Amino acid sequence: MAKKDNGKKITIYTLKGGEGKTTLACAIALEGDWAIITNDVHSDLTTAIKEESYLVLDPHHPLPTKEELHGANIIFDPGGFLDERMIDAIKMSDYVIIPVTEFGKKLNTERFIASVFEIEQHNKNIVIVLNKITDDSAKMAKEELKRQKYTYPVFEIKKNEAFEIMLNEGVAISEIIKRGGLFKRWFSQVDTQLQKLIKHINQ
Ligand SMILES: Nc1ncnc2c1ncn2[C@@H]1O[C@H](COP(=O)(O)OP(=O)(O)OP(=O)(O)O)[C@@H](O)[C@H]1O
Ligand SMILES: [Mg+2]
Repeated sequence: MAKKDNGKKITIYTLKGGEGKTTLACAIALEGDWAIITNDVHSDLTTAIKEESYLVLDPHHPLPTKEELHGANIIFDPGGFLDERMIDAIKMSDYVIIPVTEFGKKLNTERFIASVFEIEQHNKNIVIVLNKITDDSAKMAKEELKRQKYTYPVFEIKKNEAFEIMLNEGVAISEIIKRGGLFKRWFSQVDTQLQKLIKHINQ
């Protein structure tokens, strides 16, 4: 019998570019003992993540096997397309996070629906993240969610400059708020939202 894998595997994927896949991957990774694997050779993980904690697969590099990744907490961050390796990554994932910004806008909604459809072929443990939320986009997104009737869990992550500091400095958001003062005031809410998402994927 195969040994139970206590390491978590997460994929963050959507067809649309710029929705925050890599940002969320880094934000989660910096909060715990995670490594990131991507097939995006232009990925800019290098600035935020320690060298030993990410792996960029060039086009000929196979995905490490499930056995090789056994016990490790891994976040897969596919570039905007799914090659065979990333489909394998999705299949071995405990959760697939689909981030969407400005849900309710035509293009964003269409790409999101297509992404959900594509992921559902391989893994039904989908988590929706309404990312870069503002007061206006939250209202629009909630109306769209009602229309679409998805039953997947939904999390919100505010649009917030904490992510820029996190990416530039390679420091977890929960650490940034410990600096106190205005950082604490401005970034606490997004820290709470992020911790809620992390709690869910750690289950
Ligand atoms: N919640 C947020 N608040 C503020 N800025 C954000 C947030 N999420 C992402 N961003 C910013 O949005 C931009 C795009 O994010 P990111 O590169 O993570 O997207 P991606 O989905 O990985 O894109 P690609 O398809 O190019 O890989 C980045 O500049 C990032 O810092
Ligand atoms: Mg990216």
